[in-house]
Amino acid sequence: LKLGVLISGRGSNLQALIDACAAPDFPAEIALVLSNKADAFGLERAAKAGIATAVVSHRDYPGDKPAFEAAMDATLRESGVDLVCLAGFMRLLSPWFVGQWHNALINIHPSLLPSFKGLDTHQRALDSGVRFHGCTVHYVRPEMDEGPIIAQAAVPVLPGDDAHRLADRVLESEHRLYPHAVRLIAEGRARVDGDLVRIEGTVP
Ligand code: GRF
Repeated sequence: LKLGVLISGRGSNLQALIDACAAPDFPAEIALVLSNKADAFGLERAAKAGIATAVVSHRDYPGDKPAFEAAMDATLRESGVDLVCLAGFMRLLSPWFVGQWHNALINIHPSLLPSFKGLDTHQRALDSGVRFHGCTVHYVRPEMDEGPIIAQAAVPVLPGDDAHRLADRVLESEHRLYPHAVRLIAEGRARVDGDLVRIEGTVP
């Protein structure tokens, strides 16, 4: 399965996918890393791993989101991408783009969805008093942070946590979860059935 990874910044989840794909038995490879920001550190991670990169900057399409997204779509198609993985990609995608990649577009979000959609999830989790927090990989639908859930990982909220400590603990779990979710899809074991994902076989 050929992955296109969309980033805007640091790219630590991209790094987790790069590392996973380096294992000979991993059933996917990264065909392209696409950033909307030319200075995203993740682009350096990709270059170091010998992976093709592209920059499609939203600033080159002022007020023209359709053209921005059409350029991204064309770049992904040219690279033969089968599955688009959002990994800290900070632009909201239109229903058009989401429709172009229906059930071939996934996102990682730093909360146990459907709790804490949107930004600043760690502080909001602390403020709400939940004892568990975590991350979710889901198929993307036009509504932000909505869509059939593929996999989740929970981490405890511990006494003395602040948003940074909690974020670090969640991020570690993200780095394990994203490759796991990609593997399930690549092996054909995560099938969308209505609003749900049916998982076939056993999951560790
Ligand atoms: C992660 O927390 C991810 O869940 C969220 O944005 C952050 C991206 O971090 N969507 P990185 O760029 O992968 O390090």
